[in-house]
Amino acid sequence: DWVMRDHIAEAVEKIREQVGDEEVILGLSGGVDSSVAAALIHRAIGDQLTCVFVDHGLLRLNEGDMVMEMFAGKLHAKVVRVDASELFLGELAGVSDPEQKRKIIGRLFVDVFKAEAAKLTSSGASTKGAKWLAQGTIYPDVIESGGAKSKKAVTIKSHHNVGGLPEQLGLKLLEPLRDLFKDEVRELGVALGLPHDMVYRHPFPGPGLGVRILGEVKKDYADLLRRADAIFIEELRSTIEPHSGKSWYDLTSQAFTVFLPVKSVGVMGDGRTYDYVVALRAVQTSDFMTADWAELPYSLLKRVSGRIINEVRGINRVTYDVSSKPPATIEWE
Ligand code: XMP
Repeated sequence: DWVMRDHIAEAVEKIREQVGDEEVILGLSGGVDSSVAAALIHRAIGDQLTCVFVDHGLLRLNEGDMVMEMFAGKLHAKVVRVDASELFLGELAGVSDPEQKRKIIGRLFVDVFKAEAAKLTSSGASTKGAKWLAQGTIYPDVIESGGAKSKKAVTIKSHHNVGGLPEQLGLKLLEPLRDLFKDEVRELGVALGLPHDMVYRHPFPGPGLGVRILGEVKKDYADLLRRADAIFIEELRSTIEPHSGKSWYDLTSQAFTVFLPVKSVGVMGDGRTYDYVVALRAVQTSDFMTADWAELPYSLLKRVSGRIINEVRGINRVTYDVSSKPPATIEWE
């Protein structure tokens, strides 16, 4: 539509004016905000933008490849993919406390990003060295970090926060989404040609599967969880609720699978199994401060459970989480 096209033209002009012929780095996570910021900045300055995508090995099934396919493949943006999964899994070995896991993941993430950014900021034969760090900060983030809200809130879970990074890297800050609400960011993303499914995704925590594997994180657990979760999400997307005509994915605010590192007995064919358990979690909420567990149809739950147990060898039991927030939180850690 015309309004959105004017909006894009204006935003593009502003970015060009700000940046001139200098180079920009952006941390791409695969989430909505950084994706839209990347697409917008790329529209404005093309190859003056380099995206850095840190893969911590705790992403969902094929997520890393999908991010690369979209940004490097379709948009032809410069993207550096850093596969740091061994580093992350190594540092997480033996650690089971949720807050400690968050701190380790957050710290490593910043370290890896900084090391990569340092390469891009030093001038060399092929580059002048980046002068800007772009972030997908949106208006609600601005309010939250400067407002009274953060003072009274008790820290129940330390959220991934990359404050102070531009100063540490000696870079100027570029935040083209600063004035926009989430809905506007999504509309902008669609207008820039990002796929609907990417732009209307459920939120995904920075520590990723690291807080969806209870206790110690192991690669085998992550692999099982990824496959189970992909089945759950696929069925949510393909099951349409007839009255609204919407998918159960769109009717829920957040849905995911949690890996429980306990074994239970099952029976398959003539044999006994002794395998892991997963929990399905789906919630409806407007602000993520309180949330109701979603009343998914039994037929959907049945299909998901049947598929996970049949298709993911190593999991023989599926449960559904019927806890609302409060007192439970949305994530299990
Ligand atoms: P809880 O579990 O606190 O989650 O009810 C509320 C929302 O916050 C997300 N969440 C996180 N996001 N880093 C993030 O970026 C984190 O450490 C983190 N912990 C929870 C959660 O997915 C939900 O949307």
